[in-house]
Amino acid sequence: MNRIDDLLAAMTLEEKLGQLTMVSAHLTPLGPCLDRTSLAEIEAGRAGSVLNLWGVERTRDAQRRAVEGSRLGIPLLFGFDVLHGHRTIFPIPLAEAAAFDPALWEATARTAAEEAVSEGVALTFAPMLDVSRDPRWGRIAESPGEDPWLAAQFARAKVHGFQGAQGAPGAHRFGATAKHFVAYGAVTAGRDYAAIDISDRTLYDVYLPPFQAAVEAGVNAIMPAFVNLAGIPMSANRRLLQECVRRRWGFDGVIVSDYQAVAELVVQGVAADLAEAAALALHAGIDIDMVGGAYLAGMPEALARGLVDIELVDTAVRRVLSLKQRLALFDAPYVPEVNANRSPGTQARTLAREAARRSLVLLSNPAAVLPLSTSVTRIAVIGPHGDARDQMLGPWSGAGRARDTVSVLDGLRAALPHCDVGFMRGVDLDGDGLDDIRAARNACRHAQVIVLCVGEGVDMAGEGASRACPGLPGRQPALAEAVLDLGKPVIVLLFCGRPLSVTRLIERAAAVLVAWFPGSEAGHAIADVLVGRHNPSARLPVSWPRDVGQVPVFYAALPSGRPADPRNRYTSQYLDLPVEPLYCFGHGLSYTRFCYSHLRVRHTELRAGDALVADVAVRNDGPRDGEETVLLFTHDLVATLARPVLELKAMARVRLAAGEQRTVTLSVGVDALGFRDGDWRPLLEPGEFEVLVGPRADRAACLRTTVRVVAGS
Ligand code: GLC
Repeated sequence: MNRIDDLLAAMTLEEKLGQLTMVSAHLTPLGPCLDRTSLAEIEAGRAGSVLNLWGVERTRDAQRRAVEGSRLGIPLLFGFDVLHGHRTIFPIPLAEAAAFDPALWEATARTAAEEAVSEGVALTFAPMLDVSRDPRWGRIAESPGEDPWLAAQFARAKVHGFQGAQGAPGAHRFGATAKHFVAYGAVTAGRDYAAIDISDRTLYDVYLPPFQAAVEAGVNAIMPAFVNLAGIPMSANRRLLQECVRRRWGFDGVIVSDYQAVAELVVQGVAADLAEAAALALHAGIDIDMVGGAYLAGMPEALARGLVDIELVDTAVRRVLSLKQRLALFDAPYVPEVNANRSPGTQARTLAREAARRSLVLLSNPAAVLPLSTSVTRIAVIGPHGDARDQMLGPWSGAGRARDTVSVLDGLRAALPHCDVGFMRGVDLDGDGLDDIRAARNACRHAQVIVLCVGEGVDMAGEGASRACPGLPGRQPALAEAVLDLGKPVIVLLFCGRPLSVTRLIERAAAVLVAWFPGSEAGHAIADVLVGRHNPSARLPVSWPRDVGQVPVFYAALPSGRPADPRNRYTSQYLDLPVEPLYCFGHGLSYTRFCYSHLRVRHTELRAGDALVADVAVRNDGPRDGEETVLLFTHDLVATLARPVLELKAMARVRLAAGEQRTVTLSVGVDALGFRDGDWRPLLEPGEFEVLVGPRADRAACLRTTVRVVAGS
């Protein structure tokens, strides 16, 4: 018998349910700590994992209670939301997605894992893989954006980065969790935790692919979303969790509920009590009940009523113990004391700066006021984000600390030591408190350039942060108007976890750079772009609406029989706005110019199993070296189903010196041009496909050709 069989044979029911129970630490001014009750539960074998606890001493103390203090000595698993960094904070996921760079995504995940493991964390509740097309939903900040193909690349990169080569000698013992399964981004009206009601077609085409990619990459855990999908809460969704994830995809890892989500099955009206809630969740395949105690409180009764049998409990316990074994927790339950108080290395900071530079999207720069001229000697930094270290890290900032963060003001003064860089907050981030608009205007009097730092606060993004009117909060619009009315060049830095509805501000500004929440190295990265040390290369991973009234607006829309035509009322359009977003998916300016030419495909007739290979010439026509991301879209012209007008299928990045031209090759398996049939089986139909290659999801900006699939699957 092996260790897991031995343990299962020895465990009482309570100890089994303990392994299926996660308790939570809570944050105090001295850091995270576990209360006495939780510590007693651990010693009693009634808690097998802990949420929100990190730190060498703290995790060692809690681990000792389990390994040396409990009857069977089963080690604890420590889980934490390390979404975009642990001590060193990288840009929020939506920002990092803008880099369109899987190697970067993997590198930041690896660094985050190393820092988290050194402080006792064994499992992160990341990557968040919810395709998001609604900026009203605060959690779009945590997502890889609107596109399922890009989200699938993000999934693979993050799982490989977090988990490393598990089992290889010296691999860091860190597990990843694909969350929140599934379609959480489709909540009604963008309101967090609201119900979802989408077709299976949308589920197959848009929301499932990133999770399948994570499972194929070997992700250790999956977390179901809080919400109900067409009336069935994800925490009780056997069709998707058991049929799809476990049986069809072959996922044998752990499914961990979201926070109290099992107990909330009662609130959602599908369980009369905790016994029924526990039974529904266990039948759906949930192994760990995250906080809420529904398994401990409800499972004995569920067993007594015959709602579940003990074999189902044992299966869940076996999966949890197998994960602990895979993460080497039995062999090495304690994090080495040598790690205590180790501060993040410079390598992590360097990577954070690079990731932040690569995430900054230059939306507009019509008069080329950027990069700043070296002759500038007086700059006014204005606005609530100008000197706000605590507003740079984003809503899930792990163990990151504001005091370790570089503000915009810090960064600009470091980059321009001979320049007079003044600062005036002007107004509070939100509310009607501070109103120093007059002082802010005066502070601009002698400035040659104004850097206006505005946007959302970190607590206006992420979980529980839906906004019906996602514009500038509080008195910031008044501050912006007052500064713009001065008639001086105003460079706007937008800090946000979503596309903001700020069209008028963008139209009046001399330049607009989306900084998102850029992380620990915010100020240095922003200064690098503003002074031209880094030529901006980031692209929007999500469409940027003109107004929230357009939402949901995304590029991969299904065709209408009456496509928008402003000249014809009876077409799919608005009376009061264009149908196109202000900026489309893939938009992002550079300080140079790239031109595309000579698109050709190597084969115009393709069969299932072939590769579609396209070559395109890209030339840097501008004055500066730069990096270009080339996107390949396809469009299935005729199929048994109406197919999206564009679908991203491949990307490539190329670095070109000023004046240099290169041929870029993009390749995609022909089977990827197909779609899933009603039974989720891949289906490739013969027929003609458009192939479009360009910088963004805009037909007018792409070169176009066609291929024919002559034999499908
Ligand atoms: C939260 C979030 C989830 C997170 C979990 C643990 O409610 O929904 O993303 O991983 O609880 O913090």
